[in-house]
Amino acid sequence: MNARSIAALAAALLAAPLLHAAATRTRESFDQDWRFARFGLQADGSRLAEPGGEPTTSGETPAPPAAESPASGTFIDSSWRTLAVPHDWGIEGPFRIDLAGETGKLPWQGIGWYRKHFKLPATDQAKRVFIDFDGAMAYAQVFCNGKWVGTWPYGYNSFRLDLTSHLNFGGDNLLAVRLDTEKWDSRWYPGAGIYRHVWLVKTNPLHVGHWGTYLTTPQITPEQATVEIAVTLDNQTDLTSRPTLMTEVYELLDSGLIPNRLPTAGPEALSVPPQGSASLTQRIQVPQPKLWSLEDTHRYMARTIVKLGEQVVDSYDTPFGFRTLKFTASDGFLLNGKRVEIHGTCNHHDLGALGAAINLRALERQLQILKTMGCNSLRTSHNPPAPELLDLADRMGFLVWDEAFDCWAGGKKASDYNKLYAQWHEKDLQAMVRRDRNHPSVFIWSIGNEVREQRDVKMTQHLADLVRAVDATRPVSNGYNDPDGGRASGAAAALDVMGVNYFFGNQARWDADPRYANKPTIGSETSSCVSSRGEYFFGTNRANWQVSSYDLDRPDWGCIPDEQFRTFTRRPNLLGEYVWTGFDYLGEPTPYSSGATNLLNFRSDPAKRAELEKELKRMRETDPPSRSSYFGIIDLAGFPKDRYYIYQARWRPELPMAHLLPHWNWPERLGKVTPVHVYTSGDEAELFLNGKSLGRKTKTANVDFRLIWDDVKYQPGELKVVAYKQGKEWATDTVKTTAPAARLALTADRATIQTDGNDLSFITVRITDPADLTVPRSANLVQFAIEGPGEIVAVDNGDPTSFEPFQATQHKAFNGLALVIVRAKPGAAAPFTVKASAQDLTPAAVVISPVK
Ligand code: GAL
Repeated sequence: MNARSIAALAAALLAAPLLHAAATRTRESFDQDWRFARFGLQADGSRLAEPGGEPTTSGETPAPPAAESPASGTFIDSSWRTLAVPHDWGIEGPFRIDLAGETGKLPWQGIGWYRKHFKLPATDQAKRVFIDFDGAMAYAQVFCNGKWVGTWPYGYNSFRLDLTSHLNFGGDNLLAVRLDTEKWDSRWYPGAGIYRHVWLVKTNPLHVGHWGTYLTTPQITPEQATVEIAVTLDNQTDLTSRPTLMTEVYELLDSGLIPNRLPTAGPEALSVPPQGSASLTQRIQVPQPKLWSLEDTHRYMARTIVKLGEQVVDSYDTPFGFRTLKFTASDGFLLNGKRVEIHGTCNHHDLGALGAAINLRALERQLQILKTMGCNSLRTSHNPPAPELLDLADRMGFLVWDEAFDCWAGGKKASDYNKLYAQWHEKDLQAMVRRDRNHPSVFIWSIGNEVREQRDVKMTQHLADLVRAVDATRPVSNGYNDPDGGRASGAAAALDVMGVNYFFGNQARWDADPRYANKPTIGSETSSCVSSRGEYFFGTNRANWQVSSYDLDRPDWGCIPDEQFRTFTRRPNLLGEYVWTGFDYLGEPTPYSSGATNLLNFRSDPAKRAELEKELKRMRETDPPSRSSYFGIIDLAGFPKDRYYIYQARWRPELPMAHLLPHWNWPERLGKVTPVHVYTSGDEAELFLNGKSLGRKTKTANVDFRLIWDDVKYQPGELKVVAYKQGKEWATDTVKTTAPAARLALTADRATIQTDGNDLSFITVRITDPADLTVPRSANLVQFAIEGPGEIVAVDNGDPTSFEPFQATQHKAFNGLALVIVRAKPGAAAPFTVKASAQDLTPAAVVISPVK
């Protein structure tokens, strides 16, 4: 997608209803001009008391100095920082060695207050005014003009609150939000703050309810498809309302609607009781439906129009797609009747150096990198994603495993979701399904990940039923690391698809067991291979808090990618896999995690547990500096590791490609054996060192997923591989010994960007020799400067042990690469230049221009 279509997507998200907007509903961004201050735990570990103490939720107007005091009071917030959300206060750092590696060694715990002053015209008096948070971490409490409005503790869910009764129409208003991450704990970096978008929604008193449409496509044939849309109307007046309801269907392109309308349903009359709701289902036949698939993401839009008499009082748009899903125990998963093997990745929500703060372009870039690898599905481990992820998945062609929880009533950490389960699980689970159920990309609901209660029949049934009550068109699953227990107890019988994390050893037995005969099974989490980009060790996998990039290392519960591929070739009935993980993420730096994560997967084996406990104790004594994961196929900065190419070779067999490792700068290894591995979509390959053949090797089908030359003696020069497929030359790759570092080179992923303050350009910095070869192992400190109307948003290099700040104008390279993320100043009309310099190296520059 180019900068223009990103802008179109942003605009579409901003103003979903395109017609009748002024007369009906509006949805305005509420991201700008917040005041922010941090209390409780500070970044340096000290404490700062909240003004006025923890607020009460009584509805009484608090006396100053409480931070929720209204605008008319004496509370002064002018010394607070002004900022725009999405905002993550944790990513601002600094990294601290004393903080948990599990959550990124970042000071994300604290109490954050956000205040926003705003005016509303008197003409809005007759409207209902809602505030929509896409997500706020965590324990959000919202106050309007000093009055408590509501709360939503689970930081990953989206929620709406009705502000109407608290507002001054024609006057000043103040919204205050208190977030408390001291109450929250996590096995990964959760972020902190209003880290997703906020919207102000205004409707008439009679309007389509929150997430108030449910659109299904019960019948699809090439000639015609049936659309069924159930619409819920809310009547916030004291009189019965008798509106009519009509649905129009359009084709939807990235650039907007195709104007020729398809058949319409209605108008039909209904009666909505005072201060109540009513629903109506309408049916529409669409001729020759264009199917949504991974290759062609045809989408449609249903427009709901609510009228009172002749007046349109609401217009509400529901994007959707036509596709069929079929899950079988024998033939895998079928999309539109065709087998699709799931080539998926699990991903946490952080965006590397940007932290948890959602950015549409940063997320789109991640998905583009995954798509190029051949990834066709995303698991939102282990929580509901930002709404943008589903929108991008719809547009770009990904299937989504949409997941609610990492735990239920039994926690993995003292203060994780276990504290909320009793009071909130129903609301949280159903909010996720209600929000996401119209997306064509969403194809499986997941109620959990490796929860403590995997064997609990009642609980599993209860949660699965809660999902089915809101959407019965998709299967419900759960990620099991105790699949035997889940099956034997009968709990898994409540699910439609069995999710298995790692433990496929018993698959043959399950396949043969008539009790499980009809249960489609998917690798909800696989591999957990670990590596550091550009690091290679010989005779060991681990050194200097890094992991060798030969892709042979994994925790005890995991396996290397090759092994998992073998499982799938032996068991073609499985639906496919979600690799742990697509991208490195902040936190959980296994195998250098001093947190308890290392132990979580071994509850059933006491001997293993004792061994790991010992290792953990040793680890705690050594104070590992690791603060982000090694699991990613792609590093934290978005640079593919070698592993990227073993997946590409398997997932895109038609793409001619070959990839060699390691790099070829080993002056200390002259004459020493230095193994060479090749990933290729070919079936044979010949390796050459300085033009001399080191032999041709052939993959044994379904057994070999890489070719290995284990006896190469290092000599500087050129290593070249020529891959063959069915006897014909297919692809080549070359690695050369470089000269010493001499220059910097900059490559922008996009040289033209929007000037909305959100769009980004990701610029890769390479340390090169005079022949433009990237110099492996180089770690030069690079300084950045901007000339013109642009700014640096963040810097990174993908090193999981780096304590350098992400918000800076300099960063070291890690194994030859660094990243600088820039944006145009809002409204900038001229191009700007990003300059990079480093001692003893020729500097480089790149020009970024605004979209005209
Ligand atoms: C899994 C768990 C993931 C992550 C992974 C690391 O068991 O579900 O969240 O911890 O292990 O290998």
